Amino acid sequence: MDKAYLWHPFTQMKSWENEDILIIEKGRGNYLIDVNGKRYLDGVSSLWTNVHGHRKRYIDDAIKKQLQKIAHSTFLGLSHPGAIVLSKMLLDIAPEGLDRVFYSDNGATAVEIAIKMALQYWYNAGKPQRYVFVSLDNAYHGDTIGSVSVGGIGLFHATYRPLLFKTIKAPSPYCYRCGLGLSYPSCGLACAKKIDEILRANSGRVAGLVLEPMVQAAGGFITSPPGYLKAIREITARHDVLMIADEVATGFGRTGRMFACEHEHVMPDIMTVAKGISGGYLPIAATLTTGKIYDAFLGEYGEKKTFYHGHTYTANPLGVAASIANLELFKKERIIQGLRPKIRLLKEGLRRIAALDHAGEVRQLGMMTGIELVKNRATKEPYPFELRTGARVCLEARKHGIIIRPLDDVVVLMPPLSITLHQLSYLLGSVESAIRKITD
Ligand SMILES: Cc1ncc(COP(=O)(O)O)c(C=O)c1O
Repeated sequence: MDKAYLWHPFTQMKSWENEDILIIEKGRGNYLIDVNGKRYLDGVSSLWTNVHGHRKRYIDDAIKKQLQKIAHSTFLGLSHPGAIVLSKMLLDIAPEGLDRVFYSDNGATAVEIAIKMALQYWYNAGKPQRYVFVSLDNAYHGDTIGSVSVGGIGLFHATYRPLLFKTIKAPSPYCYRCGLGLSYPSCGLACAKKIDEILRANSGRVAGLVLEPMVQAAGGFITSPPGYLKAIREITARHDVLMIADEVATGFGRTGRMFACEHEHVMPDIMTVAKGISGGYLPIAATLTTGKIYDAFLGEYGEKKTFYHGHTYTANPLGVAASIANLELFKKERIIQGLRPKIRLLKEGLRRIAALDHAGEVRQLGMMTGIELVKNRATKEPYPFELRTGARVCLEARKHGIIIRPLDDVVVLMPPLSITLHQLSYLLGSVESAIRKITD
C-alpha cells in the first residue's frame, strides 16, 4: 500500500517502488524498530531531530500530562502556560541579546519568519529600501519558497528559480573545494571579505544576511574555518545588516555546545531553531530576536506595524510540553558535559575513516560528521552522480543494523546525543566497513 498510495519526500519514487522498503513501527532508546521487530541504530537521529533517544520516559510523560489538559489551543490572541515557560527557558540558554520568541512549527517556517521579520523591521523603521538578502552558496534553510530563495544548493533549488525572490549569493566557506581557489589560512578568510565587498557595494539596500553558523548542514556538513562566523558578525554589524543565524540543524547540543554561535561568541540579531527543540518528538520551531527588532513592531493599531504572520499550530501545547521536558533533561542529565568523551571517540574513529582511499574529506564538529567520498582523492574528482555512491554506502550500512542517510556523496553521521560509547564505536566500525565495501 505504501508503494501504491504514497509519495515520500526527497525520494525518487521509481527506485523506491523497486526497493525493499523499511517500515519503522517503534523506537526504543537509540534504536528504531521495524514492523518485523528488527532493530536499527538511529545514526542520523531521525533526520537530525532526536536528542535523548526514542521513548524517553521523561518526555513521554510530559506529553501525556499535557494531553490531560489540552492538545491544542490557538496562539493567535491567546496564550498558554507552557509557551510562556518555554520562551523564558529558550532565552536563558540562547546567545545574549535575544529577548523575544516567535513560535512556529518547523525549520522552514522559522526561517520564513526570520526573513519577513527582518524585512519588516527595516520597513517599520522607515527604511523600506533595505529589502535585499544575502545568502550563501551551499546553504539550506528549508523547502518553502522563501527559504528556498535563500538556499544555495543547485540540485534542490535551481528548478524553482522562476518562483524565487532574488538574493545576493556569497561564497560558501567550503575550504575543501574553495570557490575562490584559495586555501585556509593563507586566504585570510577571503570568503568573509567577499561579504564585506557585497555589503559595501549594496550599501543601504541589504536587510539581512542568512547563514547556518559553523556547519552548512544539508550542503554537505561543510564546517566553516575558525574565525569565519565571528568575521561575518563583525562585518554585518559594521554595515548595519541583520545577521540571521539558522540553528535549525546545529542547535541543541549537536556541535558540542548548546548553540553553534557559542563557538565564536557570536550574538545574532535573529536566530531560528527547530528539529532538536522538542527532543525530536513533535514539530515545533521558534524564531528568536532582539528587543530592538521587537520594538520596531510596536505602534498604534492604525500604524499597521503589526507582524502579520502566524500558523494554525503556532506554539502547539504538546510540542511545547515536549520542548520543556527536553530542555529540563539537558540540565538534569548534564547532556553537553557528557558529550566530551563521545566527541573524542568520534574524532578518533574518524581518523581511520579519513585514511580510506576514497575519503576525500572528513568534517566533524561535535556530534555532526560528514564524510565526503570522492572517486579520486588526489584530484578530488567526485563520483558520477548517477552511481549513488553515498546512498549505496548507507544501504550497505543497513546490513549492519544502522540507519544513515547521505547528502549526495557525503555520508552523514549525526546520532542522538544519548548514543553510548559502545554504540558509537559500532556505528563507526560499520560505516567504515560499508565505505570499504562500496568504494573498493
Ligand atoms: C539549517 C536548516 N534550516 C532549515 C531547515 C528546514 O527545516 P524543516 O525541515 O523542519 O522545515 C533545515 C532542515 O534540514 C536545516 O538543516
